[in-house]
Amino acid sequence: MSEEIKLPHFDILPEHLGIIMDGNGRWAEKRGLERSAGHKEGARVFKKTADYCQKIGIKYLTVYAFSTENWKRPQKEVHALMELFDEYLDWAISQEKENEEKGVRISFFGDETKLPEELQGLIEYVQNHTKDKNKFFLNIAVNYGGRAEITRAAKILAEKVKNGEIKPEDITEKMISDNLYTADMPDPDLIIRPSGEERLSNFMTWQSAYSEFWFSDVLWPDFTEETLNEALFDFEKRHRRFGGV
Ligand code: IPE
Ligand code: IPE
Ligand code: MG
Repeated sequence: MSEEIKLPHFDILPEHLGIIMDGNGRWAEKRGLERSAGHKEGARVFKKTADYCQKIGIKYLTVYAFSTENWKRPQKEVHALMELFDEYLDWAISQEKENEEKGVRISFFGDETKLPEELQGLIEYVQNHTKDKNKFFLNIAVNYGGRAEITRAAKILAEKVKNGEIKPEDITEKMISDNLYTADMPDPDLIIRPSGEERLSNFMTWQSAYSEFWFSDVLWPDFTEETLNEALFDFEKRHRRFGGV
């Protein structure tokens, strides 16, 4: 039986799905392992999940991998995470042909300039080589913060006011949206957070105004396709009103 036949049918799918990949540390600690072992497992689950989302027809997937606040962690843990991003990028580059066939565009959301130089180079390479693809948009938020993203947009617009390109009273919500990392993308319809925490932790602050949320106690390394199906079937039942009736 081909793998395709086993895919479930969804009446409505989120066009844009956000995932806060949380719980790696606790997963490792529960097993008496170093936190980095949890991140390693989390990276494996991320690859599997992204592949599954692409197969079932989700068009935009944004995953939260490292926040602007995560620099507060012990240096050793931060270093292990940077190594994992590096490994992922090397792997993504090795998959260039497969990704091209699938039409995968990979983007990084966040301030890259604070990342190790080698990582910045790999990010540039991957973004440039996938930028013309438009079947599946995979956005990886690294050194990302929703507040930093809005602040960045404010600075871009302030600069335009300074140059006389626009007047303060001309600033619209759309102009702010257009200067976020998600410019030209729909807002996330559904945001999933495993690990038992029920908060956004600075993820998609602007874009989540009307998102649906789904929380689970499952730790990210234990997250499976079945967990995702559960969230997606629940999403199908939601009644979104956007302020209307
Ligand atoms: C998420 O898992 C990964 C990152 C934040 C980088 P955590 O490392 O936050 O795992 P917990 O929340 O400590 O279990
Ligand atoms: C949010 O998780 C960031 C990522 C999953 C990358 P955290 O573990 O950093 O969030 P808090 O500290 O529990 O709010
Ligand atoms: Mg956490």
